[in-house]
Amino acid sequence: MKALILAGGKGTRLRPITHTSAKQLVPIANKPILFYGLESIAAAGITDIGVIVGDTRTEIRRALGDGSRWGINITYIEQEAPLGLAHAVKIARPFIGDDDFIMYLGDNLIKDDLSLLVKEFTTHKPQAQILLAHVPHPENFGVATLRGADVVRLEEKPAHPESDLALVGIYMFDKAIFEAVENIKPSARNELEITDAIQYLIDKNFAVRARIVGGWWKDTGKLEDILEANSLVLETLTGAIAGSVDELSCLDGKVIVEKGARIINSSLRGPVIIGSNTTIINSYIGPFTSIYHSVTIENSEIEHSIVLENSSIKDVKRIEDSLIGQNVVLLRTQKKPAAYRIMAGDSSRVEII
Ligand code: DAU
Repeated sequence: MKALILAGGKGTRLRPITHTSAKQLVPIANKPILFYGLESIAAAGITDIGVIVGDTRTEIRRALGDGSRWGINITYIEQEAPLGLAHAVKIARPFIGDDDFIMYLGDNLIKDDLSLLVKEFTTHKPQAQILLAHVPHPENFGVATLRGADVVRLEEKPAHPESDLALVGIYMFDKAIFEAVENIKPSARNELEITDAIQYLIDKNFAVRARIVGGWWKDTGKLEDILEANSLVLETLTGAIAGSVDELSCLDGKVIVEKGARIINSSLRGPVIIGSNTTIINSYIGPFTSIYHSVTIENSEIEHSIVLENSSIKDVKRIEDSLIGQNVVLLRTQKKPAAYRIMAGDSSRVEII
């Protein structure tokens, strides 16, 4: 069995973060989203992994390398444009050959153990196995209609969903999917949809199995989802202090302080992770917050947020529900006239009080 991870695409809903970096590399609890999927595929015993890359190819390649770090072999597959998930399958044919494979969308995070799903697939040997999850807004996803345990219809982002069962971005296929992707037409958004390819299999009476996810699942395409995924993952971690914490600081709950980080006269209430070489001075870091590497936070309060590398925050009263990019400077100025001075990238969102 092989695996195909999709790490191309545009990431429009996460701009401006994705103007400069791949959405699949945004860290969740200080680890790029993509690594979680890769690690669970490796843990399921799959070592031949194809990674679909697009505009952000250089960054993805730099982050994953040849895969030897995880004991796997990575083959990069270039997609000239994000022409759809089924298009990605099409161009992966030379890599996959006639093998069965698991397809994993690089911005998806799931708690369930992939080995069990792989086992189920290899035991029953359907042509396709899909995963479904009950969601409050099915119109944002591929949506499945079931009759008993059978999948009768799949629709991509329908305006009027027939159920609340969203297609999770983890699929298992045998070679029948290659016939399907050759026989479908681009959708209204001009993509070759994997949803349509699986519908083709259903229409041709191929075996399509569905299972509903047991644990949580997150498609991290939007800010709220990233923050929620961050909270869910932080809750599963165990506290560990590798950096330095002075005697004036107070740590409460699950707190991770990575190597080289310094906590000075501050209060950290877990679950929280502080990245290597980050400095926290006279500040409060509240629950569900991940501060990445080489960040400085001084005289400020922050909660339920993610801060990326090399950013600095100084004298800011309170930040909540925020994703702050790389190399960002946030500070209270003494300059006159007193005014907000902002250099925000395209599609930024700033809420002020
Ligand atoms: O997350 C689950 C949803 O993923 C499913 O419910 C939908 O049925 C499925 O179509 C997909 O919807 P999205 O609109 O969220 O897909 P997105 O464009 O965000 O792409 C998913 C991942 O695949 C993302 O990491 C980018 C990558 N990708 C996407 C396209 C369209 C590629 O590598 N190449 C592509 O051509």
